[in-house]
Amino acid sequence: MKKSHTRTRAKAPAKKTEKVPIAILISGRGSNMRALIEACARPDYPAEIVLVLSNRPDAPGLEVAEAAGLKTLVIDHKPFGKDREAHEREIDAALQASGAMLVVLAGYMRVLTPWLVKAWEDRMLNIHPSLLPAFPGLHTHEAAIKAGVKEHGCTVHLVTSGVDEGPILGQASVPVLENDTPETLAARVLEQEHLLYPDVLEMICRTVG
Ligand code: GRF
Repeated sequence: MKKSHTRTRAKAPAKKTEKVPIAILISGRGSNMRALIEACARPDYPAEIVLVLSNRPDAPGLEVAEAAGLKTLVIDHKPFGKDREAHEREIDAALQASGAMLVVLAGYMRVLTPWLVKAWEDRMLNIHPSLLPAFPGLHTHEAAIKAGVKEHGCTVHLVTSGVDEGPILGQASVPVLENDTPETLAARVLEQEHLLYPDVLEMICRTVG
């Protein structure tokens, strides 16, 4: 009888995806951040979160990030008073030290100074809860209902010095229903935000990576 041979074949190494280091800035609950954390956990997703930074020490999103084992940092804006640029110089130093290539704003509720915008020009993304250029600024869901639009949604865009004005990278829309309240509409939009942001970030990382 022929002797059977066991042959061990070296396994082909798993294809390594080059990951783009990103930092996420939050001020609050961080549900978009959570969607990004989940996306980044996929082996084939081209981004890696190197820092989650909040300007509010009580931002609930910080706990979510910590539970995911991410490095978090609080740089409270309050001690800086009106000197917004001094606050942002500290933020920038932390971002640089983290090695981030891209900065992702996820419910970061401060208008940035032109200085920080310039420092991260073409490398900073934001998500806004409306179909820009419609309804920039706050209270977008109330505004959409009041305006009687049939379609509303969210936008991911590059950050420029004009608030909610940067080049649009992606949008997702939802219908506005007859009996919508700002809350029901916000919830429908938020579901789309959680899908759109990881998708757009993936596209950007595949371009820069
Ligand atoms: C989202 O609606 C986002 O579009 C806006 O701020 C909100 C942040 O929510 N920029 P979360 O903190 O991501 O849950």
